Amino acid sequence: MSDLPFTFNLPLPHVVPSRVDNHIERRLSAMRGQFLDEAAYQEMLAQDDRLIYEVYEVKRPEVSGEFLMGVSIVHPGKVGSEFFMTKGHFHQVLATAEVYYCLRGEGYMVMETPEGEACVEALIPGSVLYVPPRWAHRSVCTSRLEDLVTFFAYPAEAGHDYGTIEQQGFRKLVVEGADGIQIVDNPRWKVD
Ligand code: 6PG
Ligand code: NI
Repeated sequence: MSDLPFTFNLPLPHVVPSRVDNHIERRLSAMRGQFLDEAAYQEMLAQDDRLIYEVYEVKRPEVSGEFLMGVSIVHPGKVGSEFFMTKGHFHQVLATAEVYYCLRGEGYMVMETPEGEACVEALIPGSVLYVPPRWAHRSVCTSRLEDLVTFFAYPAEAGHDYGTIEQQGFRKLVVEGADGIQIVDNPRWKVD
C-alpha cells in the first residue's frame, strides 16, 4: 500500500468510488434476528434473499493515525413496517468517532451508547453527521425509491463490534406508521 497522497472520485449518480479495495454485499439472510417482525422476515427471505445494502471500502493500514473511508449504500425497502437498514455496530475500539456525509437519498442514523443513551439523526443530501466516540451507529433508508448513500471516514484502528448489537438490538427503530415515518421504541431492546 503506497504512502503517497491519493485522490479518488465519487461520481454521481451511482457514487461508487473510482478506487475500491473491498466491496461488501449484505443480504437479508445476513440480517437474521435484526428486524422486529420475524414472520415478515421469514416470508420475504423465502421469496428472495434481497440485497439490503452494500459497502465500498477504500482501505489503509489499520493503524492509529490512518483513516478508513468508503461509501455505504442502503437500498430502499421494508421488512414488515421496518425500513431497510445496516446491521449497525459499536467500534471495537470504543473511543473512536466517525464522520458521515450524505450524498443521496434520505434516511436516519440510529445511534446509542453502551449505557443506552439513544439519538436518531436525519440524513439528507449535504448532511454531515459526526458520530462521537462510544456511539454505535446504524444507517436506515426511508426513501421509497432512492438509495441512501453516504461517504464515511473513521480511524483505521477502530474495528467493528457487531455482537453487542446482535444481542441487544438498538433502542430505537425506524418504521412506517399510519402517519408516515416514525421513530419508535424497540420492544425487544435490553441493555445488560
Ligand atoms: C464502519 C462504518 C461503515 C459501516 C457501513 C455498514 O465503521 O465501517 O460505520 O462503513 O460499516 O455503513 O454498516 P455495518 O458495518 O453496520 O454493516
Ligand atoms: Ni462505524
